[in-house]
Amino acid sequence: MKISLDSQAAAAIETQALVTYVFEEDDPINGRVADLDKSTGGLLRRLSKNGELTGKSLEMTLIHAPAGLKAERLLIVGAGKRDKFSLAELRKLSGAGLRFLKTRGVKRVAFFVRETDTNPGAAEAVTEGSLLADFEGDKYKTGQKSDAPVESAALLGWQADAGQGIDRGRIIAEGQNLARELANEPSNKMTPVMLAERAAAMAREEGLACEVLDEKRIAEMKMGALLSVAQGSVEPARVIAITYTPANYAPGGPVLGLVGKAVTFDTGGISIKPANDMDKMKFDMCGGAAMIGTMRALARLKPPVKVIAVVPATENMPGGKAQKPGDIQTSMSGKTIEVMNTDAEGRLILADAVTYARKLGCTHLVDAATLTGAIVVALAGINTGVFGTNQAFTDRILASANAAGDKMWPMPMDDEYREMIKGTMADIQNVGSGKGGGAITGAMFIREFVDDVPWVHLDIAGTAWFDDAKPWMAKGATGVPVRTLVDLAMNFNSK
Ligand code: BES
Ligand code: ZN
Ligand code: ZN
Repeated sequence: MKISLDSQAAAAIETQALVTYVFEEDDPINGRVADLDKSTGGLLRRLSKNGELTGKSLEMTLIHAPAGLKAERLLIVGAGKRDKFSLAELRKLSGAGLRFLKTRGVKRVAFFVRETDTNPGAAEAVTEGSLLADFEGDKYKTGQKSDAPVESAALLGWQADAGQGIDRGRIIAEGQNLARELANEPSNKMTPVMLAERAAAMAREEGLACEVLDEKRIAEMKMGALLSVAQGSVEPARVIAITYTPANYAPGGPVLGLVGKAVTFDTGGISIKPANDMDKMKFDMCGGAAMIGTMRALARLKPPVKVIAVVPATENMPGGKAQKPGDIQTSMSGKTIEVMNTDAEGRLILADAVTYARKLGCTHLVDAATLTGAIVVALAGINTGVFGTNQAFTDRILASANAAGDKMWPMPMDDEYREMIKGTMADIQNVGSGKGGGAITGAMFIREFVDDVPWVHLDIAGTAWFDDAKPWMAKGATGVPVRTLVDLAMNFNSK
């Protein structure tokens, strides 16, 4: 989709649909919308008086052939209460507006923002909202596809420097859409080997360094925890490491490590999952896909900090060689693990990936993983669970999430929870004893391998994909937390 600034007046532009928004307030027809209302001879005020135009969040009012405007349609999207409005809301309403028009075959739109939202940040939000909304997960449909892509979006009435926001928004949205595309692939089209090939191809195109460890190298590195998961599958595991080095990098400076769980299919292994909804476990690679998408965006945005993504990729299968409950494994760190449940495999592969990231010199670590069903119980699909032991670093991630419009919520990591993963036959066990706290014991397990570097774990099991389409986004992988991680890296030195 082509997105560009356009200096034409809202009433004069010839477009298939002019899109703007109103707030839910006593008189929603104000500011620029009052001007539009004048052009249309008071039509908007009449609609508002009739209660057909209220400004309620994501309300859609579509007017065909609006008198006084050159546009074929005028779409007014509800923006909700003004004091709750944010860039996140603007991103969402742009996306929802675009998808609404898409279903009606519209190919060319023009966004006319409100007088308060003409800055580059707002242009970035509209660009991201539009590109994320235009993405569909239907590449394997041969017959009737989802709605055809939108061809162009003109941004009307913005500050002259808003173009920077368009460029940045496009880079970020394309990174996020890459994560979505990789994660949406079914397991037969995205094995660990294929994921590594895709990551290496992306790195080559973007000028990033990429190293892929094959099963032999993984064994040489003594990644026993990762191998224990991979051994049940005929598909070999891979560890993908992608490095971005800034031009002015001085050795000894900070290195941000982004570790992402990529289980290309999680059957549960011998502790097998029920058949119901097992198909969703093709999404168990969303953490890894997000790191690959983030790296593509960073290659183009060039943050001031060195960043290394480490993505352990494997299937979790119950093959004849599969590990069994009670097996004891030695991780790359040397710590021994009693595998009480083979379905708690994410923490096993992350244990070795985190150790490897530290070996590569990472001074700060963020991991993202569809780790536990328990986080979905705690936070539903609304918030990503945030776990960290370093308050300052955790606060930085929460600030980035807030800036990027990814909803995240801090979870506790008191030492008392450590008791629940204490091993009896080995150093630690991979599930918590006793009842409850499943998301926390998952995080506590990863912590055992982090040592003293600032680290944050993001449990995205509830936020990594939508079971159904949302007004602003197609069903399937969401690409969370690409935007947060991009913000974190871009502001790394100044924060
Ligand atoms: N991939 C799953 C977690 C998951 C569940 C993600 C549902 C998204 C939706 C993970 O590997 C898993 O199976 N975790 C177990 C851990 C348990 C055995 C301690 C879980 O959450 O049930
Ligand atoms: Zn599992
Ligand atoms: Zn899993």
